Amino acid sequence: MSTYLVTGGAGFIGSHLGESLMASGHRVICLDSFSDSYDYRVKMRNVQQDSCRDSVAAITGKKEALAELSRCLESERYRLETVDIRDRAALERIFQSEPIDAVVHLAALPGVRASIEQPLLFDDVNVRGTLLLLETMKKYGVRKWVCASSSSVYGNNKRIPFSENDSVDSPISLYAATKKSCELMGYTYHHLYGIDGMMLRFFTVYGERQRPDLAIHKFAKLIDQGSEVPFYGDGSTKRDYTYIGDIVGGIRGALEYAENNESVYEVLNLGNSRMVSLGEMVECLEKELGKKAILRKLPAQPGDMTMTFADIGKARRLIGYEPRTSFEDGIRNFARWHGGRTS
Ligand SMILES: NC(=O)c1ccc[n+]([C@@H]2O[C@H](COP(=O)([O-])OP(=O)(O)OC[C@H]3O[C@@H](n4cnc5c(N)ncnc54)[C@H](O)[C@@H]3O)[C@@H](O)[C@H]2O)c1
Repeated sequence: MSTYLVTGGAGFIGSHLGESLMASGHRVICLDSFSDSYDYRVKMRNVQQDSCRDSVAAITGKKEALAELSRCLESERYRLETVDIRDRAALERIFQSEPIDAVVHLAALPGVRASIEQPLLFDDVNVRGTLLLLETMKKYGVRKWVCASSSSVYGNNKRIPFSENDSVDSPISLYAATKKSCELMGYTYHHLYGIDGMMLRFFTVYGERQRPDLAIHKFAKLIDQGSEVPFYGDGSTKRDYTYIGDIVGGIRGALEYAENNESVYEVLNLGNSRMVSLGEMVECLEKELGKKAILRKLPAQPGDMTMTFADIGKARRLIGYEPRTSFEDGIRNFARWHGGRTS
């Protein structure tokens, strides 16, 4: 049994990863601030077990409900720490409390548009927060980590598919700039202190529990309600959508690679390696939800990339990454989950 610290462990990707690690017999320390990037109760539900539902539901205040959730989830396999990665003393307390084999760093403020509105906050959480984490790892001798980067670092790269060898010196949003910064700091700490790192560039992740601010989830809700769907540009922008199960497989593969090899620093694309246009995405959702979308056409947004498309050859070679879920199947799973939720 290994012990993994998963930052952002109550979020969309982190909660799925935590379940997967526990199912393989590992221990997970889930660190999450339950930030207001979206409703904290959604994040609580991401990690909540049925056995906790009544005791947590009986409490109204956020702090008190989170304390009850931590108490209820505490087990040999799991510990929930409601901590902000920018809180150095709290980070140190966690690293002191028990040996940690490796860190998976997913905590971040996500979102291209939000980063353009709040650049200083994004820098503080995504860059300074990551640096504090690296400093704490260095201090407590934790030498393996996997870090969430993003396809957004490619900006308006014209060469497709996007390869890890392409230049990523022209980020077109502050969010992308913070993710590139994380990759760079990862390299520096590898070079100076021997911290082995895998920087994973996720390509638009979707599936059950997808963040409510992301297009597929937001559109599904609006289509279901019969409300207008904001449709930016002419529908020709394209995304490489990656199913959550495939991303979790990729993170696990990268973790294993870092653990089993010495002196590792790698940047890897994790995508599905297929482009789907905005128009096709809406059609697929309409089919699975059984309803037509009412589109409100709007101009393209600043910071939006025209396309993303992952070359996954390196991930295939290095960690045996193989996405298995087609977009159609993934949307079917998402729609089933979306339809079955109670709120
Ligand atoms: N979902 C995607 O399509 C996608 C694509 C590329 C990269 N990523 C990256 O993957 C990671 C996970 O993304 P996600 O979609 O699960 O997002 P998410 O928002 O669901 O999860 C991130 C979690 O981090 C937590 N967090 C935020 N600030 C924190 C802080 N200061 N201290 C501690 N915890 C904090 C949030 O509360 C949240 O639970 C992020 O780093 C994101 O940038 C995601």
